[in-house]
Amino acid sequence: MALVSATEMLNKAVAGHYAVGQFNINNLEWTKAILETAQECNSPVILGVSEGAGKYMGGYDVIMGMVNGLIKDQNITVPVAVHLDHGSYDHCYKCMEAGFPSVMFDGSHYSIEENIEKTKEIVAAAHAKGISVEAEVGSIGGEEDGVVGMGECADPAQCKMIADLGIDFLAAGIGNIHGKYPEGWKGLQFDVLANIQKETGTLPLVLHGGTGIPDDMIKEAISLGVAKINVNTECQLVFAEATRKYIEEGKDLVGKGFDPRKVLAPGYAAIKAKVKEKMELFGSVGQA
Ligand code: 13P
Repeated sequence: MALVSATEMLNKAVAGHYAVGQFNINNLEWTKAILETAQECNSPVILGVSEGAGKYMGGYDVIMGMVNGLIKDQNITVPVAVHLDHGSYDHCYKCMEAGFPSVMFDGSHYSIEENIEKTKEIVAAAHAKGISVEAEVGSIGGEEDGVVGMGECADPAQCKMIADLGIDFLAAGIGNIHGKYPEGWKGLQFDVLANIQKETGTLPLVLHGGTGIPDDMIKEAISLGVAKINVNTECQLVFAEATRKYIEEGKDLVGKGFDPRKVLAPGYAAIKAKVKEKMELFGSVGQA
């Protein structure tokens, strides 16, 4: 299967009571490791691209070339979506032009009226091209690639207003935070999530800040309509740890251990193990 929008895979996830992982990418190794794992697990997957990571990798066309090339040359047959993560209005259009099959418009920092107006425009432009759209209500706390959120809980009535615009899936703040959770974090607010689900019905809900959320909370969130879970920091942490170990053990000083393909290999394996662990937890294994 070539690249797909995320609509069908997430509707299937809601019906099947599991979630599809969105794993953010940073480079070729990240992307290849995630795609290879998805194929091995026979799992659908979403590759998340923040604006910062898009710039880092050289631009949205580079990313589309890389992902399409990997899908073809590595014989990836599971459904794969490439998705702009926390996109601004302008970048949603840039990604749609570059061929992204899915975008997130994060209008959570605007007034609800402006969020509605801009989301509506983006939905019309995206759907004309078969591109799926994620919208956000109630900002996700913490910081991700320069996008800083206060961490508020979404108002279910506002979620309904945004859901009614015909979006494909909705990110709603329920006490989740990007990055590591602080000491004394109160946990996900399931009463809020249940009220959001009551208002939005079978619309797939998105849980950002997947790093560090205890497994039982992940499962409860899935039971309340969460069908997409975003994980970024956890892959970064295991990559850094594995790479540090390689260097600290002096392996780069032995033979051709300085070859970048060798230096990056432990981090690559660590990302694969982490992605597999999450796919098993989310229940997406075997669902491609
Ligand atoms: P974490 O970095 O906390 O895993 O969050 C990822 C995310 O929500 C991407 O949008």
